[in-house]
Amino acid sequence: MQFKTRTHNCGELREKNIGEDVVINGWVDRRRDLGGVIFIDIRDRYGITQVVFEPTFNSQAHLDAKDLRSEYVISVEGVVRKRPADTDNPELPTGHIDVMVNKLIILNEAETPPFQIKDDIDIHEDLRLKYRYLDLRRSKLQKNLLLRHKMYQVTRKYFDENNFAEIETPVLMKSTPEGARDYLVPSRLHKGKFYALPQSPQQYKQLLMVAGMDRYFQIVKCFRDEDLRADRQPEFTQIDVEMSFVDQEDVFNTVEGLMKKLFTEIWNKELKTPLLRLSFDEAMEKYGSDKPDIRFNLDMKTLNSVFNNTGFKVFKDAIDSNGIVTGLLASGCGDYTRNQLDVLTDFVKGYGAKGLIWIRVKDNGNGSELESPTMKFFTDEEKKNLIQSLGAKAGDLIFILSGPKLKTLNTMGVLRLEMAKRLNLIKEDSEPKLLWVTDFPLFEWDEEAKRYYAMHHPFTSPRLEDVQLMETDPGKVKARAYDLVLNGNEIAGGSIRIHNSELQAKMFKALGISEEEAQQKFGFLMNAFKYGAPPHGGIAFGFDRMAMIFAGENSIRDVIAFPKTASAVSLMDDSPSVVSEEQLKELHIKVR
Ligand code: AMO
Repeated sequence: MQFKTRTHNCGELREKNIGEDVVINGWVDRRRDLGGVIFIDIRDRYGITQVVFEPTFNSQAHLDAKDLRSEYVISVEGVVRKRPADTDNPELPTGHIDVMVNKLIILNEAETPPFQIKDDIDIHEDLRLKYRYLDLRRSKLQKNLLLRHKMYQVTRKYFDENNFAEIETPVLMKSTPEGARDYLVPSRLHKGKFYALPQSPQQYKQLLMVAGMDRYFQIVKCFRDEDLRADRQPEFTQIDVEMSFVDQEDVFNTVEGLMKKLFTEIWNKELKTPLLRLSFDEAMEKYGSDKPDIRFNLDMKTLNSVFNNTGFKVFKDAIDSNGIVTGLLASGCGDYTRNQLDVLTDFVKGYGAKGLIWIRVKDNGNGSELESPTMKFFTDEEKKNLIQSLGAKAGDLIFILSGPKLKTLNTMGVLRLEMAKRLNLIKEDSEPKLLWVTDFPLFEWDEEAKRYYAMHHPFTSPRLEDVQLMETDPGKVKARAYDLVLNGNEIAGGSIRIHNSELQAKMFKALGISEEEAQQKFGFLMNAFKYGAPPHGGIAFGFDRMAMIFAGENSIRDVIAFPKTASAVSLMDDSPSVVSEEQLKELHIKVR
């Protein structure tokens, strides 16, 4: 049947429209048949409007309405009226009016959906993902996608206004090592050869700098075949940025400008800049993380100086082998039971700690006293310095971990977050905390492979004052690399790049990459650098992660229209899937 297109959407009608003839189209959200009168809530992206079928108003429409079921797609023609006083719904923007229907057209019927289209219902995520098009009818997810849309617009406008050019880079590229595993695409025309999907446009954006494009940005899909978590997807979106003739400060300024805009436009909050900066070393020692959540006060403290001359073997071994003794003060937790402490000990053991030292701080009448099975190993001097160093008071609880530096700090960092959760220190309305983490180590030692890896990527510049250490003490070299951290999430990372082939050669040497290997793997970039590469640097934002935080969600899947599961499967279209023998043959592939 011919239907009339809408005069208004479902979120639009107000008291000022009372008396108007209108047409609205949408989905049946809720149906109440009160015998004589049928009330239907019609829903679309813009909202919900109540329409009323009354036999005395229009008997045919009332009769037709008896067939309506949830999720039917309908068009109604009617007259807007003021709702009777007792049916007013102040919670809905359209809640003071309804529409008296004199014509109903069913545009499409719908099978009973596998779950109710409603926010805050408890359904398994797999079912939601299988019927994602229904899941996306829920207003919460629609809001998230619209927020994401707004973030794209703010981002594009900001970069455009600041002279950045949006340039697309290839999706089929050469497979290059470092970082995560590549997704590969077999070539039909070139037997046995593969394209890789980009883990990021890193090399292309650097080539664009060599090409003289000066300021580039792109909102771009990246692909990484790695283990997934709540904040990781196999394909995800970056805001990718690169700038020529800059140093770290210029990148910081540009990024802070964008974050300021996003804070105002999305959250209606003012972001104070310049942002706090923490060096990697500070972040690790104070928060046990290179993406510290600083929304709450629960800081770690390095205690090596307290135990420098200790007779306690566990600490002595740690300190003698360049390790660390780190403490965490849990204020007011001195009454934790043995059982609670055992649970926390098991918790840190799960992260590789050998054990957890806990100490209750008591009041012995003339000062604080420490109570713990470990106390017999501590001198009075050490006890006094420990209390002082942590600022402990009676009623507090002290945790201590010792061992290899980064690993131990990491574990204490996880315990710090766990305690914050247990003590409910992160409130829903806690002010967001955005900061830079800087001066990352250039290299990361891999104990298994017995070699250094680039912590960021092999084009990251060392701090110039550290260059001479690259050969003598690579572990000490700091990079001109930085991460942006929001509420304990790494939302962006970048660096100033190496633009000089001599330094690049040094870098490859330190990474144990031979000249031939470098030529083979990164030749196109290195060759380009022979023709005058400007000093350059940049950054990439994890757009999905950022959208997740701006939307107040805990999973990036909730801000992605069609996400994959944690095992990289799309439940809706069933990918990855088997392909035909013929397709495989064409691609010169045999599946074993
Ligand atoms: P990096 O690898 O740090 O840097 O990535 C930048 C940001 O992307 C986000 N991110 C992810 N988000 C969702 N799922 C994933 N699997 C995933 N992996 C990373 C993170 C991260 O901070 N080319 C460099 C940037 C540069 O040096 O300019 C790069 O890709 O939020």
